[in-house]
Amino acid sequence: MTTSNATAIPTPNDAPVSDTGAAGIDPSLPLRDDLIGEEPYGAPQLDVPVCLNVNENPYPLADAVVQAITRRIAQVAPTLNRYPDRDHETLRQAFCDYLERESHTSLSVGQLWAANGSNEIMLQLFQAFGGPGRTALGADPTYSMYPEYARDTFTTWTTTPRNDDFTLDVDHLVRAMHEVRPAIVMLTSPNNPTGTVLPMDALERVLAEAERVEVAGSSRPTHPIVVVDEAYVEFRDPGTPSAVSLIDRFPHLAVSRTMSKAFAFAGARVGYIAANPSVIDCLRIVRMPYHLSALTQAAALAALEHTDEQLEQVGHLRRTRQETAAWLREQTYHGKPLQVAESQSNFLLFGGSFADRTQIFDELLKRGVLIRVVGPEGWLRVCMGTEEEMATFRRSLAEVLPLVR
Ligand SMILES: Cc1ncc(COP(=O)(O)O)c(C=O)c1O
Repeated sequence: MTTSNATAIPTPNDAPVSDTGAAGIDPSLPLRDDLIGEEPYGAPQLDVPVCLNVNENPYPLADAVVQAITRRIAQVAPTLNRYPDRDHETLRQAFCDYLERESHTSLSVGQLWAANGSNEIMLQLFQAFGGPGRTALGADPTYSMYPEYARDTFTTWTTTPRNDDFTLDVDHLVRAMHEVRPAIVMLTSPNNPTGTVLPMDALERVLAEAERVEVAGSSRPTHPIVVVDEAYVEFRDPGTPSAVSLIDRFPHLAVSRTMSKAFAFAGARVGYIAANPSVIDCLRIVRMPYHLSALTQAAALAALEHTDEQLEQVGHLRRTRQETAAWLREQTYHGKPLQVAESQSNFLLFGGSFADRTQIFDELLKRGVLIRVVGPEGWLRVCMGTEEEMATFRRSLAEVLPLVR
């Protein structure tokens, strides 16, 4: 088990990128002691021809969707003198309709909640359920923002290692749950950066076990919240259930989702959560007043009215992932085939034995292809782009592999 209080997992180039650099911070400012030396988080935003580093949907919005967004924004523009609907009820209903269709699960408005990206949703979860004296437990390697939510809410971040194939080591996690008695268990399916899906029986076991764990740092006998981060869930293989189907059975389950990935809406910043209404009530305590602007709500509603167009490329991106995985497995590095982690997402973790992954990253960048140095040593992550972008990626990587250490 690895525990940190306020330290992100060190992952080269996934490490926070600074605009000013830590050295640029004015030492006379009363910055919190635990933030000294910390830098803003974020993947490099570079102006290169092929950006395959932040797991976006590479296809721009269809004209019909752009027009619908423009119409909705024009409708609310004259009312921007007023605060927006604080409880964004119409949008929450639209998410219920979406989940009914996408995951065949019927939920009520009281079971939905939205915010500015699922990053804000998860920060709200940490604000409500974490805090000093409390622990959040995850399984490494995983999304590198979780330690940052922990740092910002004075929550201790602890991880258990995953199996060699990156599947969740459920026995290990369950043992750790009883040992550290976390307030939050953070699971990710499909996981970032590995793409690994969490099977439902494993999740059900964790959920059942959580009901037997008493949270450390709570003045009353309470049980952990189990968060499943389903940011990439629409890319899963057809027929695979979503954790939202378990919400009615497990009152401490919270499923975080986003419009940023498959839904091709990263620029609008819209995430949402499905959970028991009493979990949502806790988030309403910590949310900023009117946190979701009228413009965001309008744009999200318009995009949700055009779900078919927004999700149009998901099947294609899934096939691109399968073809790219097959191609990568045919490539060799120092005479051995590349490894590729089993992924049900829009990205692939590949390599496994790169001696100097940053050299490969740099060589690809010289050729105009931006990928991500993230995850365990020896691996790199690439997200699925358009046909042309993937052709450039393949051509560049094939050129680079024989050149590197
Ligand atoms: C696993 C995971 N969860 C959540 C997010 C945050 O997405 P957003 O805040 O855009 O909804 C990301 C973004 O890359 C992610 O990889």
